[in-house]
Amino acid sequence: MNERVVDGHPFEEERLLELSIRPESFAAFVGQEKVKERLLMSVKAAAMRDESLDHVLLAGPPGLGKTTLAHILAKEMGVSVVTTTGPALEKSGDIASILTNLSDKDILFIDEIHRLNRIVEEFFYPALEDFHLDIIIGQGPSARTIRLDLPKFTLVGATTRSGLISAPLRDRFGIQERLDFYTEKDLVLIVERSASILEVAADADGAREIAKRCRGTPRIANRLLKRVRDFAQVKGKKTVTKAVADEALKLLEVDEMGLDKMDRSFVLTIIEKFNGGPVGVETIAAAMSEERDTIEDVYEPFLMQIGFIQRTPRGRVATKLAFNYFHTDAPVTKLPPGQKAMF
Ligand SMILES: Nc1ncnc2c1ncn2[C@@H]1O[C@H](COP(=O)(O)OP(=O)(O)OP(=O)(O)O)[C@@H](O)[C@H]1O
Ligand SMILES: [Mg+2]
Repeated sequence: MNERVVDGHPFEEERLLELSIRPESFAAFVGQEKVKERLLMSVKAAAMRDESLDHVLLAGPPGLGKTTLAHILAKEMGVSVVTTTGPALEKSGDIASILTNLSDKDILFIDEIHRLNRIVEEFFYPALEDFHLDIIIGQGPSARTIRLDLPKFTLVGATTRSGLISAPLRDRFGIQERLDFYTEKDLVLIVERSASILEVAADADGAREIAKRCRGTPRIANRLLKRVRDFAQVKGKKTVTKAVADEALKLLEVDEMGLDKMDRSFVLTIIEKFNGGPVGVETIAAAMSEERDTIEDVYEPFLMQIGFIQRTPRGRVATKLAFNYFHTDAPVTKLPPGQKAMF
């Protein structure tokens, strides 16, 4: 028997699913209205002037549509897009060979741009500013610099951690947008759109239940929809109703707020092991046997958004809301074993 687990990391199958339902135009991209309006404006203006689009930085938690928007920008501009990631660009030569192969107005999409190394980043600056590279030939006293002109490309950078981008790199992006978690209304539209592409019959309440429980994230909405579809099929239910969605999500251990096992474990670690905090993120990561980056990128943003977790200078704190939600008593000062309280 094949066992399926949903653990927050997309499998190959999920990746293919993402591709099939990824919106390909601004019209099909639901929500983020202001961001869309501004990007569309810039695209139109660039087209009218017959220029390349200014460099674009897209920031925000995973699964909110950064990669999708990068591809939509290329499509709307009618140009090609070349994709790479920050950590893949190890040497200056890596970036030089990509840039010299672009055409005018093409988009270079660099995912996880906050993980670009310093040397490559600095080598990149003149390319971003006035489309040339300074290449050093030879070594020692005979070394000389030659200037290589480049096509007028557009860099689209995506990051889940805009705080880690250096100021000089950030300043070179003429357009900077931050994607926020989606509203329930938008998520209902996203679930309905995906359901129709996947040919899943879902009624309004069924779609809303998934929308409510996907942590404000389209990628999770789509993933849950697919798992709910599996459940409905096996149970012989023709339509995804609220009851079907509810039962399926229970099985997946996704609770009413959309928190999954790892989200709950994160909050409960702070509450139960560290008395509600403040506690440093490294300490929480060690207690959960989880990567610090995963905590900061994946779990924390939504838990902060719903007010369960706060960041303070002394570390993370679980709020009263979180204590109430988990029916745990407010923090008390625990005494070492054997010691009596003195009042
Ligand atoms: N506004 C939207 N409307 C409809 N579907 C969306 C929207 N945004 C994202 N999606 C869906 O969610 C999936 C994930 O989006 P995407 O891959 O663009 O996220 P991302 O921000 O690049 O995430 P990561 O930081 O993990 O790379 C897409 O494949 C798409 O199907
Ligand atoms: Mg992406």
